Amino acid sequence: MSLHAMAPDGHDAHTAHVPVFTGARRAELDELLTRYPTKMAALLPALWMLQEDRGWVSPEGMAEVAAVLDLTPAYVKGVVSFYTMYHQHPVGRHFVQVCTTTPCNVCGAEDVVHAFLRETKCGELGVTSPDGRFTVIEVECLGACGFATPVMINDALVECVSVDSVKDLVAGLD
Ligand code: FES
Repeated sequence: MSLHAMAPDGHDAHTAHVPVFTGARRAELDELLTRYPTKMAALLPALWMLQEDRGWVSPEGMAEVAAVLDLTPAYVKGVVSFYTMYHQHPVGRHFVQVCTTTPCNVCGAEDVVHAFLRETKCGELGVTSPDGRFTVIEVECLGACGFATPVMINDALVECVSVDSVKDLVAGLD
């Protein structure tokens, strides 16, 4: 169960959507748009800005992006659903993705997942820890098959994670 989630920019992740693309963020988007041939072409970075500020991509956030880029909400939703990098639910401050595809699995990836669930107190995959710090999920191949078990923690790839190293890894995150 996720507790009261705060977005990186301080907004409550569960209350009414507050527009992201105003003021400096709007200026940043407008500058970005000058580098693309169409507004639609800037969809991925616009969604990334939204997620950076709010921590996830809510339906209301998708609607805002659709409005500023002259797209339909359904089109934006389709793109968000396609890419796993966009969170459609609030997640912990540290989003932990553990590869459990076969090559990593035979090297003990499942045990690494269980160690993360235990040390972060998430308990279950996809559930945010009670302190709001962590969400752990399993993912398909991270492209680091020779370094089992590879783990993505937000934007950082950590190679050769073992059950024994999980505790120190978690303790080193704020
Ligand atoms: S199978 Fe795990 S990184 Fe490729």
